[in-house]
Amino acid sequence: MLTIGGDAKGLLEGAQPVKTVPSHFSPVKLASQSDVELVFGREDEKKFYLGTPLDMETKICLNLEELVKRSNGIFGKSGTGKTFLTRLLLIGMLQKGRAVNLVFDMHSEYGWEGSSEAGRKVKALKQLFPAKVAVFTLDEENSRRRKVSTDFVVRIGYDEITPEDMVLLRQTLNLTEPAVEAVYQLARRFGRRWLERTLEIKDAEETKELLAELSIHESTFQNLRRGLATISRLPFLEAHAPDNAVGSILEYLERGINVVLEFGRYTDVTAYILVANLLTRRIHSQYREKMEKAMGEDSARPVPLVITIEEAHRFLNPGVASQTIFGTIAREMRKYNVTLLVIDQRPSGIDDEVMSQMGTKITCLLDNERDIDSVLAGVSGKSELKSVLSRLESRQQALIFGHAVPMPVVIRTREYGSAESYRDFSTAGEAEQDVEELWD
Ligand SMILES: Nc1ncnc2c1ncn2[C@@H]1O[C@H](COP(=O)(O)OP(=O)(O)OP(=O)(O)O)[C@@H](O)[C@H]1O
Ligand SMILES: [Mg+2]
Repeated sequence: MLTIGGDAKGLLEGAQPVKTVPSHFSPVKLASQSDVELVFGREDEKKFYLGTPLDMETKICLNLEELVKRSNGIFGKSGTGKTFLTRLLLIGMLQKGRAVNLVFDMHSEYGWEGSSEAGRKVKALKQLFPAKVAVFTLDEENSRRRKVSTDFVVRIGYDEITPEDMVLLRQTLNLTEPAVEAVYQLARRFGRRWLERTLEIKDAEETKELLAELSIHESTFQNLRRGLATISRLPFLEAHAPDNAVGSILEYLERGINVVLEFGRYTDVTAYILVANLLTRRIHSQYREKMEKAMGEDSARPVPLVITIEEAHRFLNPGVASQTIFGTIAREMRKYNVTLLVIDQRPSGIDDEVMSQMGTKITCLLDNERDIDSVLAGVSGKSELKSVLSRLESRQQALIFGHAVPMPVVIRTREYGSAESYRDFSTAGEAEQDVEELWD
């Protein structure tokens, strides 16, 4: 039996949770459209229509105001519809104006356009809502070739990379523990320019002296140098970056414009981890300052910010979650008005505490037992939900549970990608382009 959760006010006004099991021979009937509507509510200025129950046409709506109060997760194995769901959720947040989004778009599928499995192109955020979305790119040439209208080209300076970034990159760069330790020593010795200076040392004698002074082992240093050389080959890195990407992102977000950063050809995970971590750390610290100022002065707080990351286990695995900015954000909930939307095909790789802090989880089909256990940990009715989850179709179906819905529910995800689907967003009063034009 599934019970209804939710806040006290909602419960007083709406459907009531069951307190007892019905007595024997109580009459039962199937929930009608109006029953479902009574529980899940209609689409309105807070609620966004995300899908329908499997055998009904009624809309299941998500309370977006509740959603953005906590970090949330979208899970499912490859090809089950995570990206399509995420795109819908982003549109919901954008339409209802409950939050601004910063999306680290690893495969360049949220900003301008994505594709469906049938090979058809589907519109993404900026084509649908040009005035509300800015596309930033790390790969100008690739964006230009795809005819994306971009707003900013992101360059990153060596001096913006800190030892904390290296902690996250330990696995992907194959660094040893002592090599990461050595980064801290080098940063103390050389300051902000530690990376550039470390790469500059060529002379054997000089190297020897430095290593002796800092008591770093020769093999540790070679291991580190190889890792740093990999980073220094990333084409968007420069000794000194000309523009301030963080400042520019914040400027857009402050104006209520959503920012999608596309990675173009740089889809390898080193680039993704490095850039997402580095930018998020600095954006979070500015948000924190603004929030503290606003609380001190009792003035307007910054708009809630939702940061979307893919391959979330890379940032939030138990080995790193306690040391990185993403772990901090997930744990502090929305203390500073910043939350995460994490997307992952391997939720068992995410730290348990982080998983337990997530407000709402939307999960498509998962077939690995450990992944299923990690997504459902701590949920009441776990064994029932487990069998529900394992029976989902292999795409476009999802189980939703948590703060943004009154009770766990399975949906067929709202259709996305047809002319009609785009038209529906515009009849919700927001899409700014003529639908005919969109369909070109
Ligand atoms: N809401 C939807 N509307 C229309 N088609 C959908 C929807 N959800 C999923 N699909 C179909 O399923 C395919 C896979 O979805 P999607 O790309 O979102 O999977 P994914 O979980 O992100 O996969 P991966 O892990 O490989 O990134 C899409 O290309 C599309 O054809
Ligand atoms: Mg995807």
